[in-house]
Amino acid sequence: MIQSSSRLWLNAILFDGLNTAAEPMAVAVQQGRIAWLKPMSELNTDDQSGFECIDAQGALMTPGLIDCHTHLVFGGNRAGEFEARLEGKSYEEIARAGGGIISTVRATRAATEDELFESAKPRLQALMADGATTVEIKSGYGLDLDNELKMLRVARRLGRELPVRVVTTLLGAHALPPEYKDDADGYIELVCNQMIPAAAAEGLADAVDVFCENIAFSVAQCERVYTAAKAHGLAIKGHTEQLSNLGGSAAAARAGALSVDHIEYLDEDGVKALAEAGTVATLLPGAFFILRETRVPPIELLRRYRVPMALATDANPGTSPIFSLKLMLNMACTLFRLTPIEALRGVTAHGARALGLQAEVGRIAPGLQADFCLWDTTNPAELAYSVGLPRLVQRIVSGELA
Ligand code: NIG
Ligand code: FE
Repeated sequence: MIQSSSRLWLNAILFDGLNTAAEPMAVAVQQGRIAWLKPMSELNTDDQSGFECIDAQGALMTPGLIDCHTHLVFGGNRAGEFEARLEGKSYEEIARAGGGIISTVRATRAATEDELFESAKPRLQALMADGATTVEIKSGYGLDLDNELKMLRVARRLGRELPVRVVTTLLGAHALPPEYKDDADGYIELVCNQMIPAAAAEGLADAVDVFCENIAFSVAQCERVYTAAKAHGLAIKGHTEQLSNLGGSAAAARAGALSVDHIEYLDEDGVKALAEAGTVATLLPGAFFILRETRVPPIELLRRYRVPMALATDANPGTSPIFSLKLMLNMACTLFRLTPIEALRGVTAHGARALGLQAEVGRIAPGLQADFCLWDTTNPAELAYSVGLPRLVQRIVSGELA
């Protein structure tokens, strides 16, 4: 994805990741980055010299979409669990009976690296097909040193072989593996003393995540993971306040987390902690939808305290087997009552912030990577309003049609 060509997109309706421009714009790309932007009314013929010009014909241009939270590398699938839930079993019941995350762990451990790569590829391609240009991928279904690293290697390889930016996150503290039954502290030690150092040394992880919940790890255990991650120079994030309020979001924010994700049970103190730390609140309406949750994240409080809201698929085999960010735009509006523009910021500027990549991607602004999408509409709200449309017309990564 290294380019040198200079291209100029003309006549684009621009949503730049935060706002919509008042008039049609020209967007210049040099060496894979955005060089400058100008209203069409101010463009003169000199501006165009040396550029290959592409007429956007009044189409909507947005930054390439960012899916800042996925678990799309995994073995097997959980269609059977989906059926069990339809017969009345809850996610927690299934998890406690050795199903749920642990059943995916068995299948992931049994899969080779090539098998995991081949099964993950179409999931990633599905995300790309509706506009994703940056995708975060977590481990968390290996739950031992070799298998966690195996998952991260698959994620890195996806980023190398497909035209999409992949960011990787070590989620060793996702669930307690059977070998450590009744010894959660012992397992946390393994995460801190072996997984984090190895993932950091091999350059396999950009960040470290945890699942802070009654069915997973305590706040104190998550804090130990954060300390180890930071000691190895890795960013931190958390699955927090998804099923109950343990105070995991505030703890993550105090530790300097980039984002806390799910947060249906977040309270006002938690929201304040995010605001003070500059931590992003990541909304995952797919999991909320699939689990038929009724408790909505505290959107009004997040607005009041000006906490940036990111939006992601949480693509995973259990709680969100959904591989479409555009569907998330709709769900964020219909289920969580975000405005379409808030939802769009969630998969662009704020999604980038949730990954610490705001200086690189997520906005159409000079100096940033030339990652963007052209859509068969003129109105940004239509991206959230309609499911299945508007069509993606062009997906550009580093200034190249991908
Ligand atoms: O983000 N909350 C924990 N982890 C995932 C679920 C993973 C699974 O069920 O396999 C989530 O929802
Ligand atoms: Fe998740």
